[in-house]
Amino acid sequence: MSQGLVTAAYIVAAILFILSLAGLAKQESAKNGNYFGIAGMVIALIATIGSDHASGLAWVIIAMIIGAAAGIYKAHKVEMTEMPELIALLHSFVGMAAVLVGYNSYLNAHTVAADMHTIHLVEVFIGVFIGAITFTGSLVAFGKLNGKISSKPLALPFKHGLNLAAIVVSALLLTWFMKVDGSLFPLILMTLIALAFGWHLVAAIGGADMPVVVSMLNSYSGWAAAAAGFMLENDLLIVTGALVGSSGAILSYIMCQAMNRSFISVIAGGFGSGSSSSSSEEEAGEHREIQPADVADMLKNAKSVIITPGYGMAVAHAQNAVAEITSMLRREGINVRFGIHPVAGRLPGHMNVLLAEAKVPYDIVLEMDEINDDFAETDVVLVIGANDTVNPAAATDPTSPIAGMPVLHVWEAQNVIVFKRSMSSGYAGVQNPLFFNENSYMCFGDAKETVEKIQKAL
Ligand code: TAP
Repeated sequence: MSQGLVTAAYIVAAILFILSLAGLAKQESAKNGNYFGIAGMVIALIATIGSDHASGLAWVIIAMIIGAAAGIYKAHKVEMTEMPELIALLHSFVGMAAVLVGYNSYLNAHTVAADMHTIHLVEVFIGVFIGAITFTGSLVAFGKLNGKISSKPLALPFKHGLNLAAIVVSALLLTWFMKVDGSLFPLILMTLIALAFGWHLVAAIGGADMPVVVSMLNSYSGWAAAAAGFMLENDLLIVTGALVGSSGAILSYIMCQAMNRSFISVIAGGFGSGSSSSSSEEEAGEHREIQPADVADMLKNAKSVIITPGYGMAVAHAQNAVAEITSMLRREGINVRFGIHPVAGRLPGHMNVLLAEAKVPYDIVLEMDEINDDFAETDVVLVIGANDTVNPAAATDPTSPIAGMPVLHVWEAQNVIVFKRSMSSGYAGVQNPLFFNENSYMCFGDAKETVEKIQKAL
């Protein structure tokens, strides 16, 4: 394929990636956004494999078949609730790829033109640094999201000093690396430090801040890909990496604003989060139980109902049953709406996707800011598998690990029914005083089974 054709294909692919990002920004256009992304990637792959730069086509095809088979198998098998951990794992692959590309470029440094030698060494060093941080950081995020690593923040003594030391020592190693004209030893030493740095950076962040970490690692993986693009002299990889890097950074910033967190403090590994006294899972009072048939009666007599779903609704696959009772109540003239917290579930937009799949009309699904003032005039709130996102301690207890995080003000309603299986805490590991309020009732059991019982009783 001629270089001109490859460049033209790269420009088309880059435009499709931009259209993809624009499409993904809205629920209604997200599907088209995905199609644009797929088309862009197909064009990018064909142009890259067909370009004069590519060699060893047989190896590339074998690798693509293995990768595609693994990807298709995993995509079919993965549960919606496991998506964030899969994304974290995929980010770790990008990080690892950047490290491998870096070492490969280092070993092939002699093929680079003499006037580009210095800049090439800097590219290698920075690419490996970002890639190694992304690799171990993403693995820790993967472990925290699937429960293999505790979601509590790791608090090593002098943790911020350790992070700072890792950056300073790596900068000194870069100077050494350049001075000795690219000796392997400082590169290996920096790689080990960056691997430890990435691991510590994410381990130090608490469970409630994981949404920000996932989008932040998304951003890091983009920059790692861009760095690989520089090393491979592939313009499209540079552009795509920069698109992912900057959109991930914007998403992290939006997440931080939604959760009232400082962007700098989260990317610096939980800087300023301090240790907390109230992360205890102990129960703080007496709770009252209610049966599904009584919930059905309460709903029949209500004029307004708000449903606040959370991670438990996703795990229980309760969205269809929830959509069913919603339309039954709406047919009776009851005003039913949904209140969605920006980090409910385990990935951005998780609840919106589930409710859209279950065909709940978009116009009754409202964001937290749109609905928070309406709870006080609401007869019944159904908290379906949500916990941290409806925890009043975020607003009332300054020592809580989730202090300052905006939450849905469900406790202001006349009656609050909480659907969960036990009194255990949410993802952040904090007990929820909502469960012990006088207007709160616990409806224990799997969310899907409970909602189906209510559906029958209605
Ligand atoms: P969580 O605080 O995670 O609580 C979910 C609740 O669902 C649990 O208390 C659990 O209680 C209940 N549950 C689990 N399985 C259930 C089932 N089959 N039937 C009924 N209930 C079930 O949920 P949330 O309010 O959605 O908050 C999300 C949390 O995840 C936040 O801390 C957030 O920061 C974090 N997070 C979010 C994201 C994104 S981007 N959304 C990413 C990573 C982390 P039982 O065990 O007693 O049933």
